[in-house]
Amino acid sequence: MIRRWYILGAGAIGRLFACKLQRLGLDPVMLLRSGEHGKTGITLRRDGEEEKLQVDTCGIAQLAVGEIDGLLVTTKANDAAMAVTACIPALVTAAPVVLLHNGMGVLEQLQRDHPALNLFAGTTTEGAYRDGEILVHAGLGDTVFGREQTPAPPWFAAFVEGNERFSWSQDIDEALWKKLLINCAINPLTALHRCRNGALLDNPALRAEVELLCEELAAVSAARGNARGAGCALDWALGVIQRTADNQSSMLQDALAGRDTEIRYITGYLVSEAQRLGVPVPRNEALLRQLDSTNASN
Ligand code: PAF
Repeated sequence: MIRRWYILGAGAIGRLFACKLQRLGLDPVMLLRSGEHGKTGITLRRDGEEEKLQVDTCGIAQLAVGEIDGLLVTTKANDAAMAVTACIPALVTAAPVVLLHNGMGVLEQLQRDHPALNLFAGTTTEGAYRDGEILVHAGLGDTVFGREQTPAPPWFAAFVEGNERFSWSQDIDEALWKKLLINCAINPLTALHRCRNGALLDNPALRAEVELLCEELAAVSAARGNARGAGCALDWALGVIQRTADNQSSMLQDALAGRDTEIRYITGYLVSEAQRLGVPVPRNEALLRQLDSTNASN
């Protein structure tokens, strides 16, 4: 039994999950870069209805040793490893650390650097964004948590009881890979061309780009043993583009705000897998070069 879940990453998804866990009675604490123990008000808007919640907060530096027995990480992929590392002194032994971000590669990095961490992964199709002080829950989605070949641990029971559209997967790599392919097909093109997702269908030249990218994504999936990705990469991408036509992708939002994008953990991960498996992916490589060169951390 986890006493309280601590949420690392106070963006839209972090706040949304704080609300979800609060509704499940799991008494979450949102971790902030600085500050004392306190409370923050979240106004959640869905379908025109507003709900106000009060969630506890705590600055990372204020955490006591052994205070955290469950950590949900909702930062950007770029920040996740460093943010988790800063929390390690506060984690009790074997506290679950659940990574919920776009892209792949952070889990491997943390596993390598801190083998004692009890890591899990997750992926979500929830849509949320902040409109001033309001958190808009724009699209109801599903969230899959898991670890390879591992049945759901006891802490997960509390997540499913409240019917928050959470499920467990013993093949979480398959779910993460699927999301990675979708992000590879959509995010870099929308960031580069400063367009909403729907333009990738409406503009014939961009649609042709999506198709070429998906051919490469399918080839890497086949070489990696992800049979569904090999057969469905294009259908998955087109389906999500259609359903999220009005969205600004997360990478476009980052690019417009002048923030580093998650390109290294999305297309960067795909390209490193392609290189490992000897599959040529020149179009994905070109997008990685173009977008990575605009990240400030270069
Ligand atoms: O990163 C994003 O923006 C989202 O994962 C997705 C599915 C591409 C929709 O915009």
